Amino acid sequence: MPACNTEKEASSGEPRRSTPYLLPSWVPGRALDLYKTVVVAVQGACTGADTAGAAYSPKEPGRILLNAVLAADLHTDGNTYRDRNVTLTKAFAGVSRSADFDAYILAGDITNSAAECEYVNLRAMLNLFRRGARVVPELGNHDSGGTSVGTAGEKPFSVAEARFRAFLRYCGIDSGWNYYALEIKGFRFLVLGTEKMLNDDADLSPAQLAWLDKELADAPAGKPVFVIAHQPPRGINGADKPEACLGAQSGEAYAILKKHAAKGRTVLYISGHMHRDFGERSFENPAPGMYFLNLPSFLYNDGGGLGAALEVYPDRLLIRPRNFIRGEWVCGEYCIEF
Ligand SMILES: [Fe+2]
Repeated sequence: MPACNTEKEASSGEPRRSTPYLLPSWVPGRALDLYKTVVVAVQGACTGADTAGAAYSPKEPGRILLNAVLAADLHTDGNTYRDRNVTLTKAFAGVSRSADFDAYILAGDITNSAAECEYVNLRAMLNLFRRGARVVPELGNHDSGGTSVGTAGEKPFSVAEARFRAFLRYCGIDSGWNYYALEIKGFRFLVLGTEKMLNDDADLSPAQLAWLDKELADAPAGKPVFVIAHQPPRGINGADKPEACLGAQSGEAYAILKKHAAKGRTVLYISGHMHRDFGERSFENPAPGMYFLNLPSFLYNDGGGLGAALEVYPDRLLIRPRNFIRGEWVCGEYCIEF
C-alpha cells in the first residue's frame, strides 16, 4: 500500500490529480476482490482530486447513502481549559462545519482515564457540534481505567464500565454489555469492547465472540458490515507487539471475520490505539472481503483533528483521510468495491 505522508501533503498545497479507475465489465461479482486490491493501491496513492484546504463535499453527493466521521483516541481531558481539550474542541468544530454527518464513529479511548469529568466534557462538545449525528463509541483501554492502575487515579473496572454504559445511554444505545450492534440508515455497526481492565490490550469473552459471529451471520445481505474496535488484531495494521493489538483473542476474532468474508460478506474493521499517522499499513486487505483501517489519534496526530470521512455508496465505500481542524484532505482515499 502506498504511503500517505500527511506532512508532505499538508505542506504542498498542490492540487492533486484524480486518477479515475474503471471496473472491467467481464469481472464477475465476488471475484472482484483481487481487482479491488489493485484499485485500493491505485486510489491510495494520494490521487484525490481535492486540493488542500478544499471545502468538504462527498465525492458523489447524489448517490451517497451514509456519511460518517471516523475518529479514534480522543483522550478527552477533565479540564476544559487544557490545551488538549482546546484542540479537541477545534477538531469537533471542524467536523461540524464540514458537513451534516450521519454518524460519529469513535473507535476507543474517548476519554483519557474514564473520569466522570472527562465524559462531561465529551458530552458538552458533542452537544455543541454533532448536529443530530448518531454517536457510536467504543470502549478503549483508557476508557477501561486500565491506564490509571497503580496511580492516584486508579479506579475499579466496574466504575469505568458504568460510566461508559451511561455514555452509551446518552448516545441512545441501551446495551447491558460493553459491546453492541447498531443499525444506521440500513447499515450494521458491530462495536466490540473489552470486558476486563487491561493496561493496553483488550479481553473479549467467549460470549462476545459468539455474538460477533452471529451478528455477522445475521447482518443484511449485500451490504458491508462495519466492525469497530479499539485495537487491530495482532499482526494487522502493524500491530505486531502485544500491547499494540487486540490481545489474546486476536486470532479468534480474526478467524470469525475471515469466515464471514469468505462467505461473501464485506467487512470493514475500524480501529485506533496506535496513534500512527496515515501510512503504508493504515489500510490492509489481508484476505478477500476483509479490510482493516487503523486510525490516527484525533487529538495527537498531525496537530490534532486527524480522522477520516467514510462515504457509503450503493456499490463502494470511500475512506477519505482528512484533517478536520485545517479542513484539508491529507492524502489519498481508500476505496472498497462490494
Ligand atoms: Fe488506546
